[in-house]
Amino acid sequence: MKEYTLITGASTGIGYEIAIQLAAKNHNLILIARSQDKLESLQREINNKYEVEVHYFIYDLSEPNSAQDLFKNIKDHKFTVTGLINNAGFGEYGNFIEMSLKKDEEMISLNVTTLVGLTKLFAAEMVKAGKGRIMNIASLLSFIPLPYYSVYSATKSFVLAFTETVSAELQGTGVTLTALCPGTVDTPFHSDNMRKTIAMKANKPMPANLVAKEGVDLFLYGKNKKIVGTMNWFLSNIPRFTPDKVMIKIKKNLASIK
Ligand SMILES: NC(=O)c1ccc[n+]([C@@H]2O[C@H](COP(=O)([O-])OP(=O)(O)OC[C@H]3O[C@@H](n4cnc5c(N)ncnc54)[C@H](OP(=O)(O)O)[C@@H]3O)[C@@H](O)[C@H]2O)c1
Repeated sequence: MKEYTLITGASTGIGYEIAIQLAAKNHNLILIARSQDKLESLQREINNKYEVEVHYFIYDLSEPNSAQDLFKNIKDHKFTVTGLINNAGFGEYGNFIEMSLKKDEEMISLNVTTLVGLTKLFAAEMVKAGKGRIMNIASLLSFIPLPYYSVYSATKSFVLAFTETVSAELQGTGVTLTALCPGTVDTPFHSDNMRKTIAMKANKPMPANLVAKEGVDLFLYGKNKKIVGTMNWFLSNIPRFTPDKVMIKIKKNLASIK
């Protein structure tokens, strides 16, 4: 029986790099995003280099019920998914009360609601089969929620808390659930204003292929969570020994535009 790894948000950035690296390791793939042209070209690129099966489906995963619809589609195609990487996500930068509520809701829907839905539906199947791997993409901001990234930071704190708790529930089932926590990564994720923040200027973005390599290792062999890079590990621990008053100043400074 053929097994597949499903990657959401595979058209660019970290998801694109993970897809290529998993194909190189002989994984059959199901790729999800909204950009048909990019997924088609990635499918072609992988088919030219590797002997694996690659399928793609176009979904806007911020739409209501998209986890249920995608899961049903996979069942209808009789694909056996033994790997799931919940990578699709987006962030917004700005003053919370001035930002669009519609965008906030889309972000929560994509980064949280669909991720929870896909994890629940696929994890239940994997537990029945006694094996499987799921990796969720959290962030350094799961540890240091930044002002002006309010809703985004909160979605990523959710992803980490959710992953750690469900991962404990899944112990002994043969199914692993892990959280990859990158710092800034060089991908199309960032808006011009994000690129002007002190945080991004001080902490040079990591190349997406290096972050993907860490992710592939965690997905295939790891447990729990991985903070990518020593500096990011250090940054993630600052709130543990820093008083709140000082932490707020540091975070506002990091999130401000130079
Ligand atoms: N870049 C960073 O600094 C950084 C740091 C920490 C964590 N992360 C997280 O890493 C993950 C990947 O981000 P990235 O940096 O690789 O960003 P990216 O290059 O912008 O990739 C985002 C991916 O998600 C897909 N996507 C966006 N909205 C979607 C929607 N509504 N429905 C379906 N797919 C959607 C995009 O494809 P389409 O546009 O084709 O739909 C794309 O494939 C995200 O969860 C992000 O929060 C990023």
